[in-house]
Amino acid sequence: MQFPITRMRRLRKTPQIRNILSETKLNPEDFIYPMYFKEDLKDNEKEHIDTMPGQYRYSLDAGIEEAKKLEELGLSSVLIFGIPEKKDDKGSSAYEKDGIVQRAVRRLKEETDLIVITDVCMCQYTSHGHCGIILKDEIVNDETLEYLSKIALSHAEAGADMVAPSDMMDGRIDAIRETLDANGYDNTIIMSYAAKYASAFYAPFREAVSSAPSFGDRKTYQMNPANIDEALREAELDMIEGADILMVKPAIAYLDVIKTIKEEFKMPTAAYQVSGEYSMIKAGMEAGYITEEIIYESLLSIKRAGADLIISHFAPDFLKGKI
Ligand code: PBG
Ligand code: ZN
Repeated sequence: MQFPITRMRRLRKTPQIRNILSETKLNPEDFIYPMYFKEDLKDNEKEHIDTMPGQYRYSLDAGIEEAKKLEELGLSSVLIFGIPEKKDDKGSSAYEKDGIVQRAVRRLKEETDLIVITDVCMCQYTSHGHCGIILKDEIVNDETLEYLSKIALSHAEAGADMVAPSDMMDGRIDAIRETLDANGYDNTIIMSYAAKYASAFYAPFREAVSSAPSFGDRKTYQMNPANIDEALREAELDMIEGADILMVKPAIAYLDVIKTIKEEFKMPTAAYQVSGEYSMIKAGMEAGYITEEIIYESLLSIKRAGADLIISHFAPDFLKGKI
């Protein structure tokens, strides 16, 4: 086919034609909205997260009200993070029966039909801010698995539909699956942060939930941004250990990883458009350098790369038709 017989611009002529020929479309059910519940906020209190313009830390009541509003707008799923009142070296407030996440999950399951997903990790709950147990100077792997399993089980007991371990310890999917099954939670879904990179894009989140490590960094457990073969090995291990959904994180700088993992494993695949991606776009918009169309374009690229699910703080904007 050659010019002038073939004219590519014919198919771009009007908005209607462009619309019916869009290869990629975003749907409300593609989105998972991350929410932060802060234990020491009361009643209808919410706190603006200054590093993430337009996002908030919620009290239990305020967060539930917000979730209900978003459900009315067509939201399907939320990803819950807790900001506890107390931290210790073992992160014990992460697996309390009445911890902030456990209470939020119970209320969400009672008062909404949302799919409730919980982030399973220790870093918001440990005094040192690492995602595992520390012995001497080391973040120890195998000892941590027991704690992650306890956290996941406490979330399942509260009614979570899905648990999402974000710690990047080896063997955690296996440990969590075994614990859930042994306690009768064989239908609780595991969405594994399978390829989670040691990324500078997490900075606004760590400020939001006070989870920055008090020493060192997370490079001995999170992945080297240079690697994609390693991401495939991580994903394969998690799949074999029993993960139901694989996640790649961050999203925009790792579109090749999303695409490769989706093509290789044919598993339900999620991508996390993290805090830094959100805040960069917001800052650019506030400075007037870019327009909000960039939001849609960034989300579209994540879907086009192969993500079935997108975790994003832009979910409300999409549902409200703002983008
Ligand atoms: C930690 C965790 C992180 C995020 C979610 N859980 C990153 C980290 O501190 O290493 C990132 C979320 C975001 O940046 O939006 N387990
Ligand atoms: Zn963590």
